[in-house]
Amino acid sequence: MHKWRWYVLTTGFLCSLLRLHNWAPISITGCSKNPELRNVFNSVNQHSGAQPTALAMAVLAYAEHIDSRQVLSHALNRTANKHVSLDIRPEQYDIVGKHLLASIGEVLGEAATPGLIDAWLVAYQQLAAIMSGAQADLYSKSVAKKGGWSGWPPFVVKQKM
Ligand code: HEM
Repeated sequence: MHKWRWYVLTTGFLCSLLRLHNWAPISITGCSKNPELRNVFNSVNQHSGAQPTALAMAVLAYAEHIDSRQVLSHALNRTANKHVSLDIRPEQYDIVGKHLLASIGEVLGEAATPGLIDAWLVAYQQLAAIMSGAQADLYSKSVAKKGGWSGWPPFVVKQKM
């Protein structure tokens, strides 16, 4: 797919995510809402398109370097760390993947043959598995540290300075 089409895709993907988060100015029927994802998305970057663009461009970069993944190792590591800082979990990859794949289908139109969509699905799932695996390592290291934790444990404010 040409890069310009991929940029168009990020716009569609952004719309899809905005609908997903129920932030679209109009309500669109037939769109599932996933309020459990709302707290992880920074609304400024959502409206500017930065996050969906970063995500879609990373998937494109993965597809372009599918035979030489070490080229992407630094970027993957950085992204895994960012995701861990936001407590992104494996099941969220499926939701995002569903919307990304739907956007690829919309942008490609008739060119989106079942074989092509399947190939993108496999590439996305591979990347999601690599990233979830890297995140699982980071979560385990974080738990193993002295006083470490994972997720959102209840904290008690003992003193205000
Ligand atoms: C294979 C799937 C994914 C890829 C390739 C991907 C890629 C990226 C990239 C490249 C960034 C920017 C990292 C940086 O700042 O250095 C990013 C940030 C982010 N990603 Fe992902 N991502 C994926 C899945 C997800 C999922 C499943 C979620 C949550 C539902 C998510 C939520 C976020 C958020 C909230 C940010 C930070 C945006 C901000 O700075 O406001 N991503 N992702």
